[in-house]
Amino acid sequence: MTTTPESQTGTSSSRPSSTPVHAFTGIGDHNQLNPLFARVGESTDFPLNTLPPGETLPETAYQVVHDESMLDGNARLNLATFVGTWMDDYATKLYAESLDKNMIDKDEYPQTAAIETRCWKMLAGLWNAPDPENALGTSTIGSSEACMLGGLSLKRRWQKARRAEGKPTDKPNLILSSAVQVCWEKFCNYWDVEARYVPISLEHKVLDGHDLENYVDENTIGVVGIMGVTYTGMYEPIAEISAALDRIQEKSGWDVKIHVDGASGGMIAPFLQPELHWDFRVDRVVSISTSAHKYGLVYPGLGWVIWRTAADLDPDLVFDVTYLGGHMPTFALNFSRPGAQVLLQYYLFLRLGWDGYYRVQKACQDVALYLSGEIAKIDAFELWNDGGDIPVFAWQLRKGYTDKWNLYHLSERLRLKGWLIPAYPMPDDLAGLVVQRIVVRNGLSRNLAESLVLDIRDAVEYLDRLEAPMPTEGLVSTFTH
Ligand SMILES: Cc1ncc(COP(=O)(O)O)c(C=O)c1O
Repeated sequence: MTTTPESQTGTSSSRPSSTPVHAFTGIGDHNQLNPLFARVGESTDFPLNTLPPGETLPETAYQVVHDESMLDGNARLNLATFVGTWMDDYATKLYAESLDKNMIDKDEYPQTAAIETRCWKMLAGLWNAPDPENALGTSTIGSSEACMLGGLSLKRRWQKARRAEGKPTDKPNLILSSAVQVCWEKFCNYWDVEARYVPISLEHKVLDGHDLENYVDENTIGVVGIMGVTYTGMYEPIAEISAALDRIQEKSGWDVKIHVDGASGGMIAPFLQPELHWDFRVDRVVSISTSAHKYGLVYPGLGWVIWRTAADLDPDLVFDVTYLGGHMPTFALNFSRPGAQVLLQYYLFLRLGWDGYYRVQKACQDVALYLSGEIAKIDAFELWNDGGDIPVFAWQLRKGYTDKWNLYHLSERLRLKGWLIPAYPMPDDLAGLVVQRIVVRNGLSRNLAESLVLDIRDAVEYLDRLEAPMPTEGLVSTFTH
């Protein structure tokens, strides 16, 4: 064996021209000659922003990528994200078996396509569609795409009605809470729709139908109701929003529909608040979206959107493709995307059923209520909500408690212990108010939550003991949607 460590990176810049690229043949030899972490590429460096000129041994490349990803936060201690970070071993096995499936290749993967249909029909039933067989749905890459499709459908419905009446269609608007997730701002920006934000306030912590008549007009394509506001986790009362729209219709004749953004709550409310009317039981709700990768409990990369009936989605938006000898309607922004997550969703539907989902979501909520209860006991804090809707809650620093530190400092202190708990300002009219939020997901056990409470108490005691105020320069919001 004549190889040198340099030759094993395969990079033309480091390889002596006399050494053949394939001189190295055996991993055993290679390990002898090149101890891990002492190889070129690891003991030196890779170019960061330019494509390396040559090849690298897979073990070396793997180790470098693996090591860099270690610098990311610990997923289980990430209480900032709503997105799933844990699935069981069978799901992981299934995932590995189906990594290569492309959701758009419905003729190549007809069974995955059939399973996708089964999944959205199950959801249509869960969300009380009048006839789940006559609903229409699709998987998406997440809630953002699902919301865009819901919004596009509202816009097209409004345009058609206006054109039929010979009226202009150049000024569509959409009514949203000011605490809406950024995907709706994107929707309005990308598809030229005016976003009309109803500001949340201390009196109206969510969009609740109050003052709606001052926002809705003949150009309103719809109202978005959020089940699980991103900032705080609170539900918007869909039935009350609908009742306000009924009153507006009585006066004006405008029949304004609702899209429910159930990114998180769409997979919580059916289990924890089954009596709450937020879904297709409310007649004005024409479409509902959710993130399967949030409380649907699937790894990142899956969402769902469902229309009450096939007639609620304009057929012009649907591309009809013929597979399986039949017709397969598709409505999506993406073409290729992973199919594995759809199988994971189906696995969970079979594995957990209603009872299993109930148990998982209830366990999360118990932990959220425990945590919010403990945080409420700490003098420094005031709760914004308690996690009784989705298992997410936010709190603020009690007015006048201290001028030495704020919630950004607390967030930083907790990060030293590995906890990722963001602090951020509330939207618009409440932008002066900074809150901190915890998202409880499957995997944050009661035991871990108790450790968290101790760490929060320790951090507060440390900050309270400071003799001078913490510097505030350069503090940034660590808010993640
Ligand atoms: C209410 C709401 N809508 C939409 C989204 C976007 O979801 P996704 O990340 O699945 O695109 C989020 C994400 O947190 C959300 O909270």
